[in-house]
Amino acid sequence: MCGIVGYIGSQQAESILLTGLKRLEYRGYDSAGLAIVGDDGLVVEKRKGKVDELRSAVDGQPLLGTLGICHTRWATHGPPTDANAHPHTSVSGDFALVHNGIIENHGVIRKRLKEKGYEFVSDTDTEVLVHLIEDIRRETDLSLGEAVRQALTQVVGTYGIAVVSSVDDQLIAARKGSPLILGIGDGEYFIGSDAAPLVEHTRQVVYLSDGEIVTVNRNGYEVKTIDNVPLEKEVHELEWDLSEIEKSGYDHFMLKEIMEQPESLSDSMRGRLLPDDPRVVLGGLYNHWDQIVDADRIIIAACGTSWHSALVGEYLIESFARIPVEVEYASEFRYRNPILRDGDVVIVISQSGETADTLAAVREARKNGVLCLGICNVVGSTIARETDAGVYLHAGPEIGVASTKAFTAQVTVLAMIALKLAENRTLSTAEMAHNLHALASIPDKVDEVLGMNDEIREMASVYRYASNFLYLGRGYNFPVALEGALKLKEISYIHAEGYPAAEMKHGPIALIDRFMPVVFIAMKDSTYDKVVSNIEEVVARDGSVIAITDEGNGELDKLCEYVLRIPKTEEFLSPLLTVVPLQLLSYHIAVMRGCHVDQPRNLAKSVTVE
Ligand code: AGP
Repeated sequence: MCGIVGYIGSQQAESILLTGLKRLEYRGYDSAGLAIVGDDGLVVEKRKGKVDELRSAVDGQPLLGTLGICHTRWATHGPPTDANAHPHTSVSGDFALVHNGIIENHGVIRKRLKEKGYEFVSDTDTEVLVHLIEDIRRETDLSLGEAVRQALTQVVGTYGIAVVSSVDDQLIAARKGSPLILGIGDGEYFIGSDAAPLVEHTRQVVYLSDGEIVTVNRNGYEVKTIDNVPLEKEVHELEWDLSEIEKSGYDHFMLKEIMEQPESLSDSMRGRLLPDDPRVVLGGLYNHWDQIVDADRIIIAACGTSWHSALVGEYLIESFARIPVEVEYASEFRYRNPILRDGDVVIVISQSGETADTLAAVREARKNGVLCLGICNVVGSTIARETDAGVYLHAGPEIGVASTKAFTAQVTVLAMIALKLAENRTLSTAEMAHNLHALASIPDKVDEVLGMNDEIREMASVYRYASNFLYLGRGYNFPVALEGALKLKEISYIHAEGYPAAEMKHGPIALIDRFMPVVFIAMKDSTYDKVVSNIEEVVARDGSVIAITDEGNGELDKLCEYVLRIPKTEEFLSPLLTVVPLQLLSYHIAVMRGCHVDQPRNLAKSVTVE
């Protein structure tokens, strides 16, 4: 889950590379490095730490040259050290390579190369690739591109790589399992792990697919398969612009993205939600709609926060469309040889569209000949390109590692799918109109909840020293309890668990004492009375309760330390509102604890390795 940027053109490469790399830092941030080819040949600068530290290291003595690559790392093999940072250089010093992914057979290749006298200076799997390419060049007179291609035919695992050399005035890049995009500028070319480093320079991009290698010269590029078959690749237009990937005055991307939800939700509904008709239009699913309507079973596979939205999707589709839904952790689904039959439809959910386990779930479904649909945010991502059809979130770029606006946009898309399936099935036209209008009113209600930011910040200051948290909800809000706990865990490093409220009595209640903050989602819906008695059980054991409930509901004041009253909405839509205070609570606690909110330790935005 590293970030790669490459450049060849007429401009000095260093600042283009470092600015682009900074934009990819959410992909990994434990060490960084760059290699520039200039009049002094190939110069490499790399070190443990963030991109800013690398930038200050080269600020004193800029690396001159118009060809280069760089890398920000999320360590898989070998701890974050200067030696393990990328780029890795060949023994001859002729070329340097950066890699995103895992070379699974690095042990076998390393042994063979060691027997041939190659010395290894790092603990990384990546270094074997550098020496393998060098060895092929020594034994043949192949070009750099050809030697790289041949080396890759010997590799087992995943990679996104970029290579430059002081001999060949070229930039080589290839992918299998890790994303890579080629940006086509005016007489210059860019390589990036995603669009973020490219968008300020060009909107013309080529998405590399698995098993493809591109050789870029100063006057053009050539794409081939790893098996040496030339390819004509389509050039796409990027949708996002630079301002969307900047912080717009917020302290953190996470806060910006939480505050953007009224817009991102409106964007995910635009042109799709037509409450006055009343109908839902999902053009991306049009060609397969009949098959979805007739599905015997829908399986939703995802990871992390996307898995939580899948759980809400299960409640939505089963209650509105009466189609059985199973929700799977993609990482389990891919290996348990799932029983897939005709009549099944698989939906995968992924913000980044690059999560390795979710991508494998797509391939598992397709291998079994089952219709596979995607709900993704990143346009042109691998999952979006490999699924049969799908729905984009249109939530705009999500840079903060902790997913927020993608979750609410995912739930909105799932609600639109469920309501469209319910049309002329379980809902009358009047009920359809009522529910679509309720959904259309959500962005304004989210805006109202965001208005409670100061109140939630004040509440967060009371709980910032907590070492454990429990989140409890029922029905549609059980997944929200899971999501609230995940948000707190991943950015504040406080241990937190989410549970169905009723499940508490079967174990977690043993954790309750006056040091255990317990967050209850207690909207006045079909589960309210049960939730209130669960609150009483916690209060009876001295637990400190925070409740989220409807505006105007004063019944919980005596029971709870804090009561957050949010606008009313339909029960099936309440996750879109109840999650927002939980996002803000985790954000403020993390800021108060001095955590690195946008780049929490040990995490990365898209998990492209297993
Ligand atoms: C959520 O805040 C985390 N960043 C993580 O759990 C994430 O949801 C998960 O890795 C799935 O990512 P995806 O939606 O891009 O596939």
